[in-house]
Amino acid sequence: MTSNAEFEYDLGVVGLGYVGLPLAVESSKQGLKVIGYDINPERVEMINNGISPIEDILNDELSDVLNNFHSTLDGKLLSKCQNIVISVPTPLTDYQPDLSFVINAAKTVGENLVRNQVIILESTTYPGTTVEVLIPNLENTSKLKAGEDFFVGYSPERIDPGNKVWKFKNTPKVVSGINDISTEKIKSFYESIIENIVLVKGTKEAEMVKLLENTYRHVNIALINELAMLCKMLDIDIWEVVNAAKTKPFGFESFKPGPGVGGHCIPVDPEYLSFKTRQIGKPVRFVELAQEINNSMPAYVVGQISEILNKNGKILNNSKILLMGVAYKKDISDMRESPAIDITELLLEKKVDVSYFDPFVKKFSVFGKAINKEDKINSFDNYDMLLVLTPHSNFSDIDFAKIKTIIFDTTGSDFIQSTERL
Ligand SMILES: NC(=O)c1ccc[n+]([C@@H]2O[C@H](COP(=O)([O-])OP(=O)(O)OC[C@H]3O[C@@H](n4cnc5c(N)ncnc54)[C@H](O)[C@@H]3O)[C@@H](O)[C@H]2O)c1
Repeated sequence: MTSNAEFEYDLGVVGLGYVGLPLAVESSKQGLKVIGYDINPERVEMINNGISPIEDILNDELSDVLNNFHSTLDGKLLSKCQNIVISVPTPLTDYQPDLSFVINAAKTVGENLVRNQVIILESTTYPGTTVEVLIPNLENTSKLKAGEDFFVGYSPERIDPGNKVWKFKNTPKVVSGINDISTEKIKSFYESIIENIVLVKGTKEAEMVKLLENTYRHVNIALINELAMLCKMLDIDIWEVVNAAKTKPFGFESFKPGPGVGGHCIPVDPEYLSFKTRQIGKPVRFVELAQEINNSMPAYVVGQISEILNKNGKILNNSKILLMGVAYKKDISDMRESPAIDITELLLEKKVDVSYFDPFVKKFSVFGKAINKEDKINSFDNYDMLLVLTPHSNFSDIDFAKIKTIIFDTTGSDFIQSTERL
C-alpha cells in the first residue's frame, strides 16, 4: 500500500472512462482511498449515485466501493492525492493525434500539483509524449521540477472491455518512470493493486509497447481480411482455414476476418505511430497498407450484401436490412469507430431501409438520422436480410435456425446458423 500521512487520498484518477473508472473501482476494492476527477458533470453525478456508465463495472460493484471512492468536478482535490493517473482520450482529429485532452488534464493536475506527488500517464499516445508534452505542461503550471519535486512516468493500459479472463488485477502491467526514483515510486504504487509488474527502461519504450501491441493486431487483422476477400474469389472457406490453422500449438496466433476494425484503439493507435515516424521522414509501411485494407472492409461487406440479395432474386436498393449488433465489439455498448457506422452510411446511400438490433446500444444515428431500433426478436422474418456485425453473447439465446430470412454473418460465430458468411 502506498498510504502516506502526507496525503488524504492514495490515488486520483483523471478521466473516468473505460480505462479510468475500472482503475478507480479496483483500487478502491483493494482498500485505497480514491477520488476520480472528470469534466463531465453527468458522469460524475452518475458515478456518485452508484450508476456505472460502462459495462465492465456493474452498478453493485460501484456502489460497494463508494465508501472509498468518490468522483468530483473539483480539480483542487487532486492536490490531496499521492498518486495521480491520467486516463483521458487521445483521439484523432483530422487524421492527426489530438493531445488536447492530455494537455488540458496536465494543466489541471499542474495547477494543483504539490511536492512528492507521483503523476502517471495511461492514455495511449506516441513515444515522447510524457517528456515532450506532459512534463512541460505540468512544470509550467506548477513551477515545480519533474523528477525532483514530483515524479512522473508512463504506463500503458491494457484493459480489454468485456474480457472475462484477463482483468485489471491479473493482466501484467508495463511500468516506466523518467528517472530511477520515479520508476521506483510508480512500481510500488502499481504493486499495491496489480499482480505482475513489468519494468521497462524509459517512458518512450513504455509508450511504444502499447503501439506495438495494437499495430500488431491491426496488421494481422488486415492480413486475414485480405485473405478472406481472396479466398472468397477462389471459393475457399476462410473460416474452415482459420479454424484448422489455429490448432497449431506454436508459432501461429489466429485472427478472424470481420466487417472492419472499430473502437478507440485498433484504428487509432497505429496512426499515432505513423505520426511519430513521419517526423523522421519514414512512414510505417505496414500500417498504411493495413489501414487501406481494413478501411475497405465496410464497402466489401456492402458489395457482398448486394451479391447475396441478387442470388436470392432481390436487389439492394429499397431492401430491408436488420443489423445484428452495431457496437464495435461484443458485449459492450461502445460505438466509437464501429464499422457498423460506415456500413450503415453506405446502405443508406443505396436507399436501404436499415434497422438495428443491439441490446447494448440504446441509440444509433448516422448522417444525423436515428436508425430504427428493433427490440422484438420475433419480427426478424420481416427483413430481407439479417446482417451480423457484432456477435454479442446473448445472441446465442436466439434460435437462428428458425429464422427464414437470409442471415449474413460477417463475424464467423459458432452459435449463429447463418446462410452466408464473409
Ligand atoms: N477503451 C479502451 O479499451 C482502452 C484500452 C487501452 C487504452 N485506452 C486509452 O486510454 C485513454 C482513455 O480512453 P477511454 O476509453 O477510457 O476514454 P473514455 O472516453 O471512455 O473516457 C475518458 C474520460 O475522460 C474525461 N475527460 C476528458 N478530458 C478530461 C480532462 N481534461 N480532465 C478530466 N477528465 C477528462 C471524459 O469526460 C471521459 O469521462 C485513451 O488514450 C485510450 O486510447 C483505452
